[in-house]
Amino acid sequence: MKLTLSVIKADIGSIGGHIAPSQALLEAVRRHVAEQGRDLLLDSYVSSTGDDIALLMTHTRGVRDEAVHRLAWDAFLAGTATAKEQGLYGAGQDLLKDAFSGNVHGLGPACAEMTFDERPGEPFLFFAADKTDPGAFNLPLYLAFADPMNTPGLILSPNMSAGFRFVIMDVNHTEGDRVIELNAPEELYDIAALLRDPERYVVEAIYSRATGEQAVAVATSRLHNIAGKYTGKDDPVMLVRTQMNFPATGEVLAPFALGHFVAGCMRGSHQMPLMPVPLGSGISYFDGPPIVTCAAFAEHGGKLTEAMDAFAHPFWDEVRHRVAVKARDMRAQGFFGAAMLPMSELEYTGITQKLARLDERFTVRGA
Ligand code: F6R
Ligand code: MG
Ligand code: MG
Repeated sequence: MKLTLSVIKADIGSIGGHIAPSQALLEAVRRHVAEQGRDLLLDSYVSSTGDDIALLMTHTRGVRDEAVHRLAWDAFLAGTATAKEQGLYGAGQDLLKDAFSGNVHGLGPACAEMTFDERPGEPFLFFAADKTDPGAFNLPLYLAFADPMNTPGLILSPNMSAGFRFVIMDVNHTEGDRVIELNAPEELYDIAALLRDPERYVVEAIYSRATGEQAVAVATSRLHNIAGKYTGKDDPVMLVRTQMNFPATGEVLAPFALGHFVAGCMRGSHQMPLMPVPLGSGISYFDGPPIVTCAAFAEHGGKLTEAMDAFAHPFWDEVRHRVAVKARDMRAQGFFGAAMLPMSELEYTGITQKLARLDERFTVRGA
């Protein structure tokens, strides 16, 4: 059967600042999806990562389906009502527009979707990251789908030796989707040249070149491109199908052991290492560190198994420890140089006004 996986996520309010949604908020969203999605969806899974709530939905209606997107939008509205009742911080934060129009793209929530012919066994991974932006997935995806140092399948498996096609989006282009398609391995250096700039160039999708099947879908929305100013980081979600013609689950998970530095954390304005954490984790140190969760699933006919928590395994304890050390080391240099993002990426505009004021006080000696 042709199945569609849709993940739609939003930050609609949290406890204690930007830490985590309340149980009541999660329940309100779950209830809405269960009741209103009964005739629309085959199955659903509602979860939280940091202060974001994500709806994973299975159905046969294709991507950008109006009814599915409306369901998610209305579920977030229902949740926002609960968030307001409880006095949660930032209630309705990511619902940037007043009215729903066709699909959630451009309205605030992040969205990753793909449609495919279901395999007899259909393993897939659902990643959600908080306090960072979609470019956070550039490096793990490059390593998993293009680098044999990480992915032995690229040299061992005949199904993968044709390589993968990367669809990369220029997220600075606001007048429409500006994308390029590049093939690994032939265009590896071109792929690397773009992906090294994760605030501008973001992997949107990856396809098997052997079969044309889609392996990856990433949410690429940038909130400041919608609101015209920063309203928070873009906390991305990603779907990755694994095994057979795709990298193995372990090959996709392995790059997250790096704890690479990503944009985000406190006030969306820093460089901090990405920590793989158990499902449902909240946020703590320095409004961070940026976190990523991974729920592994199998499904059949759209019916999901229970979620397996891919980063709950004891292996990741050592990674988390190392990421915490890296985070402390970076924080030791406060606002200096590499610790903070460049001007264009800062989440707050106060500094622009400050610099404009100072600019007037500069004098050119001898002029
Ligand atoms: C980062 C984030 C937090 C807030 C910070 C200040 O994405 O959500 O670091 O930026 O807690 O929050 P406000 O400005 O809402 O008081
Ligand atoms: Mg938030
Ligand atoms: Mg968030």
